[in-house]
Order: sequence, then structure tokens, then C-alpha cells
Amino acid sequence: MSENAPTPQDASKRVFIKTYGCQMNVYDSDRMADALAPHGYLPTQEIGEADLVLLNTCHIREKASEKVFSELGRLKELQGEKRAAGGDMMIGVAGCVAQAEGEEIARRAPVVDLVFGPQAYHRLPDMLEKAQGQRHMHPALKKAVIDTDFPEEDKFAHLPAAKKEATIARGLTAFLTVQEGCDKFCSFCVVPYTRGAEVSRPVSQVLDEARRLVDAGVKEITLLGQNVNAYHGTDSAGRDIGLGELCYLLAEISGLERLRYTTSHPRDMDDGLIAAHRDLPLLMPYLHLPVQSGSDRILKAMNRKHTAAEYLALIERIKAARPDMALSGDFIVGFPGETDQDFEDTLSIIRETGYASAYSFKYSTRPGTPGANLGDQVPEEIKTERLYRLQELVNQQTTAFHASMVGKTLPVLIERVGRMPGQVGGRSPYLQAVHLEGSTDLIGAIHQVEIIGTSTNSLVGRLNQAAAA
Ligand code: 5AD
Ligand code: SF4
Repeated sequence: MSENAPTPQDASKRVFIKTYGCQMNVYDSDRMADALAPHGYLPTQEIGEADLVLLNTCHIREKASEKVFSELGRLKELQGEKRAAGGDMMIGVAGCVAQAEGEEIARRAPVVDLVFGPQAYHRLPDMLEKAQGQRHMHPALKKAVIDTDFPEEDKFAHLPAAKKEATIARGLTAFLTVQEGCDKFCSFCVVPYTRGAEVSRPVSQVLDEARRLVDAGVKEITLLGQNVNAYHGTDSAGRDIGLGELCYLLAEISGLERLRYTTSHPRDMDDGLIAAHRDLPLLMPYLHLPVQSGSDRILKAMNRKHTAAEYLALIERIKAARPDMALSGDFIVGFPGETDQDFEDTLSIIRETGYASAYSFKYSTRPGTPGANLGDQVPEEIKTERLYRLQELVNQQTTAFHASMVGKTLPVLIERVGRMPGQVGGRSPYLQAVHLEGSTDLIGAIHQVEIIGTSTNSLVGRLNQAAAA
């Protein structure tokens, strides 16, 4: 414990953090909790007992800001109830919607005390103090504290993530942000505007945090970044280290058993990273590598800077290095100008690649992105139909992928009690959920599990005693 971190007894306040969107936000929410802990705030899962509610928002989905405003409406009611009962509650909006629409949020929802973007989490305690000062002002004069700058300073250097206590009780698997931001500017995407330019953490910081996680009991780390494979950190000798090389360094940490990373861009999938998949057994054979579309015309309009053939050739190189690599992707249907043929090309690339899983979305305009100025919008009902067809195809592939595991024995990191009494659950190397009968003593280690069946979204297994012996 650090000197000024409160124990549960002396922490007088509670913070409820609601996280939307990607794993990066999950990581950031944990860091917000870490930043607040020394200031007397402990996390709670009960919104009713919170003195501070933070919404960590995501801008990638449609109507993201509308969802935030309706949530704020509900929070306003809750705050009213609390005040009527003699209590109070502060409200903050964080994340990408806050970054994109800070002023607008403060204007439309005066109930909000603070608004801050993804680059400002380490300043949260200061902001909170300022916001507390504002609380006593007349409502007409009260102003939300807004912090949506992209500071020059390195937020990672200020976050107390490095403290050991921050990692306690976060389980066997953990996220570790190594990179943030995006320089790719796909024409549909807000990320380069909300998260800013690509920044990588220095190698020593990443290794230190990973070691502390492992010391705290973590067995599997997922490296995070909007463009995680664009990682280029500097080591203590000033050398530039790519993600592949970083994986080799992480692999030396004794006690770390599994390593994953997400999300990657095809253009940054370099030889060093592919070699790491060939050489490092701890680097799990599951890769989220979005292609978005299978039509070169649409890929060009999306500013993806790769063709369908280049993507397929890349998959071949990856599979040559790691033949059992399971792939996952993101797809957008109904990008402006997408014809039936373009969509057929997307189905073709899905057939050719063969996905273990995939996420798919109807295109929707994000104000401020180049895509917002494109004409020739695809009608909604066509988007709906295309999305349905695409998801049917992906579901077939997912089902076939799960079925192909039956009869195999897989190493499963057993992480938790299962859904049914007497069951435990964990993940296969391919990120599939696996359930099996077994005692809770199994939790915390990798066990050999024979897959005996599948259910909708998971595998059913039994402990392979022979393999374990
Ligand atoms: N419309 C639809 N889907 C989008 N995505 C990003 N922006 C948009 C948009 N404007 C999807 C992409 C991305 C995933 C995280 O969200 O497929 O990879
Ligand atoms: Fe968005 Fe494209 Fe960057 Fe991914 S690579 S975050 S889709 S701009």
C-alpha cells in the first residue's frame, strides 16, 4: 500500500464508474479508480451509494452522445432523490464523447460537474477539487470543470497505475495499455479526433507495469492500443522497439503465461510481430485484425490504405508462422457508395479468410469525419439486410470453428466459478469461453481440458487427467 492510500475503513466516499465501449475504456476506468483511491474514493458497484458517478463514454457507436444525455437525465433524478434525503452526488463525463462534445455536454446538461477527455485522467483529483468548489455556487453561476486538452505531457507517466495496490484483486487476466491514439484516419472513424495522435509508452514503463501485474497474480496480459501494433516504444538505450520485440521482452517475465494484444491494423502487422507469433508460445493464437470491407473501391474510400488481396496475403504470412491462428475482424456494411458487388466482395473475403468471430456494424455518419461529407448513402433497409447476411455467414464460421475443437485437448486458463454449481470456467488459447465440471481449486492455473461439446457461445470440456499427469 502506498503511504496515503486509504484502507477501506478510512475511505469515506464511493465512486461508481460506468464504462461503455472498448477495452481501452475498461483499462482507463480502472486507472480513474486508482487515481481517486488516494483521495478517499473507493469503487462501488451500487450506484445508489455513490458520492461520485463517472460515465466513461464511447463515441464509436451511433447515437453515442444521445445515450449519454439520456443516462444523465436518469442521474439527475437520482441526484434529486439523494438531495431530498440529505445526501448528494457529483457527476462526471469522461471518455471519447466527453472529448468530442465537452462544451456541449456542459451546456445541455448542467447537472454535470466535470467533463474530461481520455488524456486528462491523471488530473482527475484536481478537477474534482475544483468541481467541489463550484458545488456551493448558485446553479445559475455553477460551471462544469472541463478538461479536454491534448496535453504535451505524458499521461501515462502521471497515472498511479504503476502502484502495486492498484493491481490487487483484479484477477488472473489484466489489460495493459501500451499505445494510444491513431494516425490512420479511416474516413468513417472518430478515434483520431477523440484519442489524438499515436503515442507509445516507453518500454521500461510497460515492463514495470507487467511485472507488477504478474507479481499481483496476473497470468494473462492483453496489451491494448487503438492501433496496438503501431506500437513503437523507446527502450533505456534509446532504441526503437516494435510490438513484436516488446512481446519477446514480456515473454521473459517469469510467471506470465499468456499474452494477447488488440486492436491491430493490417498495415502495421510487420515481420517482427509475425515472427513473435512463430517463436513465442505465450503469444496466444488469436488475432483481431479488422479489414472492414472486401471491396478495393470501398477500402480506398475508407482510406484504409490496403487492398483485399494485400490483406489475404498478410493472413497467409501470419498462418505460415502460426498455422492455428484464429482470426477476428470488424466489418462495416453500407459505407456510402457500397454496391451489391462491393458487398459480395466483403462476403468473399470473409469466406476466404475464415473468421473465428467478427464484429459488424451498419455504417453511420460521425460528424467531423471525412465520411460525413460523402453522398450516396446506402438506404437503411439495404444496410439492415446486408448486416443480417454478413452476420449469418460469420455465425456459421464461428459455429464451425467451435465445433472443430471437439475432441481436442486445449490448455484452458481457469478463471472463475462456472454458471452452474460445480462448474468452473475459463478461456481457450483462441479466446473461447470453456465450461467444465471441476472444483474451485482449479481456478488460477492453466489446465488441459478435453473439449466434449459446444453450446451457443462457448465450449464444454472435461479435465483431461491423462494430459495433466
Ligand atoms: N460506422 C460504423 N461502424 C464504425 N466503426 C467505427 N466507426 C464507425 C462508423 N462510423 C466500427 C469499425 C471499427 C469498430 C471499432 O467500429 O468497424 O473497427
Ligand atoms: Fe479508427 Fe481506422 Fe484508426 Fe482504427 S485505424 S482507430 S478504424 S481511424
